[in-house]
Amino acid sequence: MTEAFELFSSLSTSSEPITDLRRQPIGVFDSGVGGLTVLRELYRQLPQESLLYLADTARLPYGTKSPEEIIQFSREILTWMVQQQVKMVVFACNTSSAIALDVVRSEFEVPVLGLILPAVKAALREGKRIGTIATIPTAQSHAYRQAAAEMDPTARLWEVGCPEFVPIVEGDRIDAPETVEIARSYLNPLLDRQIDTLIYGCTHYPHLASVIEPLLPPGVRCIDPAVHVVEAAAKELGILNLRNSYPPLPTRFCVTGDRHAFEERAARWLGCQPQVERVVLPEFDRTPA
Ligand code: DGL
Repeated sequence: MTEAFELFSSLSTSSEPITDLRRQPIGVFDSGVGGLTVLRELYRQLPQESLLYLADTARLPYGTKSPEEIIQFSREILTWMVQQQVKMVVFACNTSSAIALDVVRSEFEVPVLGLILPAVKAALREGKRIGTIATIPTAQSHAYRQAAAEMDPTARLWEVGCPEFVPIVEGDRIDAPETVEIARSYLNPLLDRQIDTLIYGCTHYPHLASVIEPLLPPGVRCIDPAVHVVEAAAKELGILNLRNSYPPLPTRFCVTGDRHAFEERAARWLGCQPQVERVVLPEFDRTPA
């Protein structure tokens, strides 16, 4: 019997379904609609991949949560993502990327990617005086500042917490007149530093680009980390030989909170109303197997 025949017969008699990991979806998560900016980039750069989007809307906003809570949320989400048999997880949430990624990465076998390093690398290609707008926990973690200091000690990076922005995006108040004034108050300290580059350090904020960008002096470049985390994901899939070559499945949208509220909010950014499932996240089990 040839080796090939032995392999074929052992596969064909097995009761286990034969799944090709390359066909499995990429898992993407955020607290709400912010991660749709990452999903948009995945559709653009990796159209052949199947995607699973989870919005942890029951616990939105993450910006008001403690580091311990944010780490616990990431553990629960990764546990769930692994149960859904994703082949990779993209943290489409800066707050989780800043606070939880380094802590939880080694607890799971699935490859995980965060927004901070790809964003800082891209920003350093553009400028040396970098402003970052982010949630309060992300700004207080100084994850962006540390990453920039490690990559280029001659660059300067300032972080500003913008607690009003996520409620504005989730509450559909982007076009309200006071939004411009709120944005101006967050940007002014960075403009005083004469920044040449601005990082959207929260995935909700590119949804506010029509408000933020007119307030910037000409020549200030904006970095949307979504673009760069997806470039990194594409590279990683290639290295791990995990690229899908089959037709992709329709994106699966899941929430931990109210289905209908998310369906309505997401429709604005997706251009169509998604079918959304409500899911319950498992508790993270720390006991060794
Ligand atoms: N969009 C997320 C981020 O990038 C979370 C925002 C929040 O829920 O406060 O940080």
